[in-house]
Amino acid sequence: MTQEDVKKALSSVTYPGFTKDIVTFGFVKDISVEGDTVKATVDITSSAPEVAKQIEDEAVAALLRAGAEDVVITINTPQMPRETSSRGKNIAPQVKNFVMVSSGKGGVGKSTTSVNLAIALAMQGKKVGLLDADIYGPNIPRMMGLNDQKPEVVGNKVMPLKAYGIEVMSMGSLMEPGQSLIWRGSMIMKAIEQFLRDILWSDLDCLVIDMPPGTGDAQLTLAQSVPVTCGVTVTTPQMVSLDDSRRSLDMFQKLHIPIAGIIENMSGFICPESGKEYDIFGKGTTQPMADEYKTIIMAELPIEPAVRTGGDTGAPITYSTPNSEVAKRYMKAAESLWATIEKINKEGGVSNAAVQPTTPPGVSACSTAAPKAAPASGGSCGTGGGGHSGCGCH
Ligand SMILES: Nc1ncnc2c1ncn2[C@@H]1O[C@H](COP(=O)(O)OP(=O)(O)O)[C@@H](O)[C@H]1O
Ligand SMILES: [Mg+2]
Repeated sequence: MTQEDVKKALSSVTYPGFTKDIVTFGFVKDISVEGDTVKATVDITSSAPEVAKQIEDEAVAALLRAGAEDVVITINTPQMPRETSSRGKNIAPQVKNFVMVSSGKGGVGKSTTSVNLAIALAMQGKKVGLLDADIYGPNIPRMMGLNDQKPEVVGNKVMPLKAYGIEVMSMGSLMEPGQSLIWRGSMIMKAIEQFLRDILWSDLDCLVIDMPPGTGDAQLTLAQSVPVTCGVTVTTPQMVSLDDSRRSLDMFQKLHIPIAGIIENMSGFICPESGKEYDIFGKGTTQPMADEYKTIIMAELPIEPAVRTGGDTGAPITYSTPNSEVAKRYMKAAESLWATIEKINKEGGVSNAAVQPTTPPGVSACSTAAPKAAPASGGSCGTGGGGHSGCGCH
């Protein structure tokens, strides 16, 4: 039997309760064929033992029918929350670490940084997800070469897309191209929560989150929904960008998010013909700000046409040209980021308890009156459930 024969046989196994099969869903992982022995691993999204049993039985039967003599099917069910030192509210407990990539203004290279840092972490062996939380300007699908792909819906959840070994989700993948949405604060909060709760992220070492520019509802909701392990601020060296970046760093402090460092992007331009370096936006301006916030500059990235073309063509430079100077700097920044994450966890991790909405006992944080539907506990936001639609809390 070949791997293709195995896939074909397993295509007859439908996922219990759905019309689609386990191969189409992408649940079949490692297939090995040694003589008449076939081994396959199936990662499923349900932890119900009867679902695992049904898939295993049907997969074994299908492979025996197709000519295998000996079949070993390993079913992986979703892991219980992995041990992490972080505490507080976490609506995506299978994700071990969350990295919030922020900037004071748009166009400074936040998405480019998120993409390349995520790829660098994956190339360093981490299991990585990339969430495009920039609902106003979702650019990640283009930058990751996923422009034409639509995610698979499984029940009431959505499978993330995959590119360069990374799981990816973006509002851009859920909307028609060119479509715009007018976002109210409450809708932003809901979108962020759904991105975390309703996307079938696997057991990730790290979810890199590309935020909208500024400091607003998206940032606050993210910090309240999951314990954000650390933040990265992206800036360009000119003063007007630095002014805004200070706000971004201040926000991390207010939200009790440790700062992993600053990425100084568009830091000079090296003329490819003469090799001469030009400081287009100024130089040496970021270090005082890093000192002020007791943090580091993780990388200085020059303006480099290959970075832009990598973004436009969906072939990020860290992956496509790993030997370039810029790719090496992204790899170093990722190493620094991971070292910070490990240090934070070793020292007890983070907690988002201090940034939860404050509600007096017995009073819902939701400002919309919904007396009958309110849970008896008077629980605050993020619990979902009846009667509160439109308030943004549920
Ligand atoms: N170091 C760089 N060199 C050249 N172009 C860059 C660099 N960083 C970002 N760009 C380009 O600048 C534009 C804006 O970057 P982007 O990452 O989309 O910014 P943001 O997410 O902050 O709005 C993109 O076209 C991107 O390819
Ligand atoms: Mg962006």
